[in-house]
Amino acid sequence: MSAVERLVRPARRFGGRVRVPGDKSISHRALILGALATGATTIRGLAPGGDCQSTRACLSSLGVRIEELQGPDGGVWHVEGRGLGGLVAPTGPLDAVNSGTTARFLMGVLAGHLFPATLTGDASLCRRPMGRVADPLARMGARIDTTGGCLPATITGARLRAITFEMPIPSAQVKSAVLLAGLHADGTTTVIEPQQTRDHTERALATFGADVSVDGRQVSVRGVRPLRAASIVVPGDPSSAAFWGAAAAGIAGASVVIEGVGLNPTRTSFLRILERMGAVVEVQPDGAAGAEPQGTVTVRHGSLRPAVIQPAEVPGLIDELPALAALATHGGGLSVTGAGELRVKESDRIAALAAGLRALGAAVQEFDDGFSVSGARRLAGGIADAAGDHRLAMAFAIAALGAGGESIVRGADAAAVSYPGFFDALEELCR
Ligand code: S3P
Repeated sequence: MSAVERLVRPARRFGGRVRVPGDKSISHRALILGALATGATTIRGLAPGGDCQSTRACLSSLGVRIEELQGPDGGVWHVEGRGLGGLVAPTGPLDAVNSGTTARFLMGVLAGHLFPATLTGDASLCRRPMGRVADPLARMGARIDTTGGCLPATITGARLRAITFEMPIPSAQVKSAVLLAGLHADGTTTVIEPQQTRDHTERALATFGADVSVDGRQVSVRGVRPLRAASIVVPGDPSSAAFWGAAAAGIAGASVVIEGVGLNPTRTSFLRILERMGAVVEVQPDGAAGAEPQGTVTVRHGSLRPAVIQPAEVPGLIDELPALAALATHGGGLSVTGAGELRVKESDRIAALAAGLRALGAAVQEFDDGFSVSGARRLAGGIADAAGDHRLAMAFAIAALGAGGESIVRGADAAAVSYPGFFDALEELCR
């Protein structure tokens, strides 16, 4: 585990205007669909973090040319599509490093390619469950040899058959993996979700010209039809913006304006929770909304109050729970249930979140499927270990802003998985 430590001082002030890096979820989809399309795709605002670099590196090993060219508004990524089914066999294992999205999406894609390929990752990723993707892909006709349900896994693709898959858990990664395999399958593949999850794959498939349809919780894609290259603009990542929103909500007198942030309604539920916790939130959508809406979000401090997040709300804010837990330590408090999925994220996000917040002085109760954070006690400050998890590194920093004394975030470099430059931006916003 990394040993980079960052000192976080109690915030005397917080606020300003900020832009967050490009959306990680949208970036993975743009890279992968660009690779499968016919023609050259351009991507502006691609997420710069480690996870999307993993997707890029794996796609390069599968024969896809991807390069960044400088344009007048910064870097533009060019993806030379290989056409549906056109990836080439890699010469060694594909390393998704820390990225569950990379691993699961590529399992779906590789299921439709007629060569064996092995996917692996770092220690954290090799502990995460892959059976949830391997099972439906096996039903479609691929052979997936996992290591006890985890990575490393060897995928031997096949001529796939379309299936109708009722997902046992709400997961956009599982939904997307099956739909990506469905692109290569004869017939129409349908996924039925138990609850709505982020719909970036559905939107991106339409942008790339796939025959995709959505009917309530049911998404269908017709396979073996070429995708056409697209020009993608990636908005700022709302999951990264959530940390600044939480900080502004928690610190007296604070106000932050986050520009160019994604406003896809399947990703913005955390704004409602910030309001429920006492913050003042304003959302200003930008004029012409493309496939993925974006705009400006302003969050101001308000007096904090206790809040409860219900199980039905969890899929819409699964990645923002660490930021909201951090806010709860500033006052108010928070209780969450129905969030057992947190246990299989980049860390066991219930255990590691509780341990880190307690190390800073918080009173946290851990449940099998959630946690509660007391807002009654001001943190003393302390040393919190990110446990190799980017969202926890950032959450502990936001909690530490409200402490009485200085804190250290151990393993702070994990933040670069989704937000390189997070700690520098934090210093800037506290100045
Ligand atoms: C993601 C889906 C979510 C989320 C992850 C990104 C995606 O995972 O936690 O950070 O891009 O589809 P699950 O599908 O496992 O819930």
